[in-house]
Amino acid sequence: MPVILAIESSCDETSASVCVDGAILSNVIANQTIHEAYGGVVPELASRVHQQNIVPAVQQALFNAKIDKNDIDAVAFTRGPGLLGSLLVGVSFAKAFALAKNIPLIEVNHMQAHILAHFIADKKPSFPFLCLTVSGGHTQIVLIKDYFDMEIIGQTLDDAAGEAMDKTSKILGLPYPGGPLIDKNARNGNPDAYTFPEPQIPGFDFSFSGLKTSILYFIRDNVAKNPDFIQQNMNDICASVEKRIATILLNKLKRAAEQYGIKDLALAGGVSANTGLREGFTKLGIDNGWNTFIPKFEYCTDNAAMIAIAGYYKYLKGEFIGQDVAPMARMPF
Ligand code: KG4
Ligand code: ZN
Repeated sequence: MPVILAIESSCDETSASVCVDGAILSNVIANQTIHEAYGGVVPELASRVHQQNIVPAVQQALFNAKIDKNDIDAVAFTRGPGLLGSLLVGVSFAKAFALAKNIPLIEVNHMQAHILAHFIADKKPSFPFLCLTVSGGHTQIVLIKDYFDMEIIGQTLDDAAGEAMDKTSKILGLPYPGGPLIDKNARNGNPDAYTFPEPQIPGFDFSFSGLKTSILYFIRDNVAKNPDFIQQNMNDICASVEKRIATILLNKLKRAAEQYGIKDLALAGGVSANTGLREGFTKLGIDNGWNTFIPKFEYCTDNAAMIAIAGYYKYLKGEFIGQDVAPMARMPF
């Protein structure tokens, strides 16, 4: 019954989790509000807040799990990809903890962990399955053949889906992070009020920079005619943008599932918290007779529980890493 302490600090959430024999006993997430004033994550500020939050987050995770720090068998941590300064705080803490307790270290790839979050639930996808991973920094369609045998078959050529959400919300004058606010406003809007273009990108790759520009020009032209255009139509704009982002993602996923003959589809990453995307994804499954999997909300956005479950599967394989490990801002699968 391995007891694993997991640390996540790749971006602007400091998170700690305790997992016993594959069951998540705690998942503490300390959010950073300092970035709201800047319209995006400020890396230097993020690292400083991680330093303040890391020890209390771990203490709270141990307390919630009712686990003593001397009972931990291994420490799993996010090695990358992410902001180097933020990662450094989590990696350093994990190394120090493992050294002090003389226990092994387990490195985890953040993007693989988003996918492995599906193995926290009782209802798990079967191999091989496809995962649409959509976060603030990544947009990928991944073919998962086994826990750590994953192949990216499509990804964004420019902005990530979450970035498209966040940049749109910035254009609309909403605070960072805008994705949840677009979601909230979209619930009261008409998704067919405005039509934005669908980029024509070959294969299973994505592009969101053209969409961002078209939204920018659409807002600029309409505000020139009516200065109150955004306020008067906020919900319809959000609903229409959300619908377009969701259809761009799901049209590609559908084609990938057809081409690869895959029947189990999964959604992962922060943007999988989006209501319109979740509904469209579920409908895609129903319409085509495919099984769809979406993690619980708290396991969609950045969290250490997903690091813990990934760490658990590595622990079972005996895959440990030495004390000379360094974080990686970019980290291939
Ligand atoms: O996976 P994540 O927590 O962090 C990264 O690894 O990037 O994803 C964060 C992204 C942000 O762009 C945020 O705006 C978006 O997920 N997001 C949402 C929603 N909740 C979070 N986007 C749309 N609707 C939501 N409900
Ligand atoms: Zn993430």
